[in-house]
Amino acid sequence: MNNKVVIELKDLVKRFDGELIVNKMNLQIFENEFVTFLGPSGCGKTTTIRMIAGFETPDEGKVIINGKVFNDLPPFVRPVNTVFQRYALFTHLNVFDNVAFGIKNRGYKYQLKFFGEDALKQEILSTRPEGASTEVKPIELKKLIRQKIVDAVSRALSLVKLQGFEKRKVNQMSGGQQQRVALARAIINRPQILLLDEPLAALDLKLRQNMQYELKEMQRKLGITFIFVTHDQEEAMTMSDRIVVMKDGLIQQLGTPKHIYNEPVNRYVATFIGDSNIIRGTYVRKNLVNFMNVDFDIIGYEFQDGESVDVVIRPEDFDVVPLEKAKLVGIVKDVIFKGVHNEVDVDVNGALFTVNTYENYEVGQQMGLKVDPYEIHLMKVPQDE
Ligand SMILES: Nc1ncnc2c1ncn2[C@@H]1O[C@H](COP(=O)(O)OP(=O)(O)OP(=O)(O)O)[C@@H](O)[C@H]1O
Ligand SMILES: [Mg+2]
Repeated sequence: MNNKVVIELKDLVKRFDGELIVNKMNLQIFENEFVTFLGPSGCGKTTTIRMIAGFETPDEGKVIINGKVFNDLPPFVRPVNTVFQRYALFTHLNVFDNVAFGIKNRGYKYQLKFFGEDALKQEILSTRPEGASTEVKPIELKKLIRQKIVDAVSRALSLVKLQGFEKRKVNQMSGGQQQRVALARAIINRPQILLLDEPLAALDLKLRQNMQYELKEMQRKLGITFIFVTHDQEEAMTMSDRIVVMKDGLIQQLGTPKHIYNEPVNRYVATFIGDSNIIRGTYVRKNLVNFMNVDFDIIGYEFQDGESVDVVIRPEDFDVVPLEKAKLVGIVKDVIFKGVHNEVDVDVNGALFTVNTYENYEVGQQMGLKVDPYEIHLMKVPQDE
């Protein structure tokens, strides 16, 4: 990743039927960056993607790509390829024709440029005996281009683990296979920017993890800038350089996965990313917060003395300790074995906390809890509360 801005959204607004869907979105995306839009259904992720790709026109604001305003320019002139949420494949065509579509249907001139006219000529001349003519006829170039397309399709299909599926009709494939055809169709064009709208949603977990890995590899190798859309916070965390957390057409927080996980700006982000315990407390003074009527040391927050704050503690950040060393004591209400750890619901004076621990507890047992100062994160209380 470097700091050349490839895409800039400036005060971007989109309304449908008078309703604000994208609400003054501002965002810069850098070259070769992997940015994920994360947010619940209907928050405007697809609409934003469609404005970048050119399938929707913004009502206000600008879509700037490589420094140029693209608002009113059609999709095909944008250095962008999109994998749509609904795959939009040509169901009457076979896999080969679907994947090859973007190159096959662009005409001879485009193809020459795409594969590089000089490189093609070189390749043809290199098969001729020494002293032979150095003239290359269009028919020879066309023949080689056909072969190049076959090779490119084959490479793209192997990237999505669909080798040998060229002849299969798309409507005779499973949802997950179709989704991978859509991916192959987008990557074959080697776009500068790839927009992926929930491209893995139809895949099972194992395949999904493989494809996550393949996509990251592709980004690394091909230097493509990715904008990725998902509902799945875990996927967002593992894939992204930065995450854009959205709600109702607004960016709630923009940052690295670590940053967003460790320092969510508000209750919405904290609950959307990972499990968390959020407790209303009071900022007593520098380095001290009070919640559940107990004072806790904290590090590094500035609020007004006496101000109400939301306190976030992740389930893995509680320390389970002997009762005499505990700052909070609760009663175990529920225990779920999660493979490595136990996820325990603990009732502390009427508030239910989720705590992860390797130790075994039974329902009804008392549990002692402590939290290290640097595991306590404070957030501003929303103004309307
Ligand atoms: N063409 C349209 N006409 C009218 N309303 C639309 C249109 N497209 C989208 N909307 C509305 O805009 C809102 C945002 O839709 P969008 O598809 O961007 O959401 P999303 O974040 O992609 O959701 P999901 O996660 O379900 O795909 C929704 O309320 C949707 O109903
Ligand atoms: Mg969508």
